[in-house]
Amino acid sequence: MKKAILFSLIVLMSVTGLFAEGQKDTDGKIVIGANIYNFQDNFMNGAMKPVLESYAAEKGVEIQIVDSEGQQAILNNQIDIFITRGVNVLAINLVDPASAESVIEKAKRADIPLILFNKEGSKEAMSTYDKVWYVGTDSAESGIIQGQMMVADWNAGVIADKNNDGVLQYVMLKGEPGHPDAEARTRESVKAFTDAGIQVQQLALEADQNWSTQHGNDKTAAWLTSSFGSDIEVIIANNDGMAFGAITAMKAAGVRLPIYGVDALDQALTHIAEGELDGTVLNDGENQAKATIDLAINAAMGKPVTEGTSWVLTTDGSKAVRVAYVAVTPENYEDFRK
Ligand code: GAL
Ligand code: CA
Repeated sequence: MKKAILFSLIVLMSVTGLFAEGQKDTDGKIVIGANIYNFQDNFMNGAMKPVLESYAAEKGVEIQIVDSEGQQAILNNQIDIFITRGVNVLAINLVDPASAESVIEKAKRADIPLILFNKEGSKEAMSTYDKVWYVGTDSAESGIIQGQMMVADWNAGVIADKNNDGVLQYVMLKGEPGHPDAEARTRESVKAFTDAGIQVQQLALEADQNWSTQHGNDKTAAWLTSSFGSDIEVIIANNDGMAFGAITAMKAAGVRLPIYGVDALDQALTHIAEGELDGTVLNDGENQAKATIDLAINAAMGKPVTEGTSWVLTTDGSKAVRVAYVAVTPENYEDFRK
């Protein structure tokens, strides 16, 4: 009986964080309170989450990763709980990039360092707290690389000018409106054509907050049977997940249009091998996850965040570590297989 009471007391104390003096867990480990904006997301769940977990284990720290289910309100609540529990540092994947400022405010009030990853906040938001940093990419780079890959394929005839009007007719699967990656990819991939002196015509563009395969499938199926269905010369997908859906829709319709993605997920490499995807861009989730953990540990220990690592912080006020994108084509995709 006594034992049972003592046990439940200990459980209660560790849950509420009272147990830890400072903020370490019961083994004295650093605790990282983390989330993924939506466990349904192919890239975040498939490429980033496993490395966040394995690399944290390798580094001897504890990471608690919760699912924010695509709702900023859920994430706000999760952050409050992490703060009450007394985690040492937060590693947050915003649901809504526009909420960066209020999330930073929460961390600041609790005086807990914060690493944002994958969804970047504005420079203004980043400037409001000296203990917030960002880990991600240079969003524009992915669009530029994808665009250059498509320009080369247009020049080589892989993307055919089906109606011989000298203009590229495209449809675009955009991803999340307002997400720096979605906005930059949409702009830069098309700009690569116009920069190369190739005229473009957008036949359709659809957005999806969750970048999902289902969305890619539904929209592509609808496009293929629409009045402009036979005019489409390329499908530009701002991530692989949506491209997978588009590929399924094309197969169902017995059509094979040139199609490009971003992320270079394992399934994308398989689609390239099978001649169903014409290219993608490596979004290096492994290194982004490692950088997130490395910075979180340093921040929790009050050290300069990149100390003892090979990561480099930007000096333009974004306080970011940006991991490079790489073109993945039918020529080099084998190099990216795990
Ligand atoms: C992007 C990635 C998308 C999606 C998104 C979520 O970087 O390319 O597939 O995961 O992040 O924020
Ligand atoms: Ca054309």
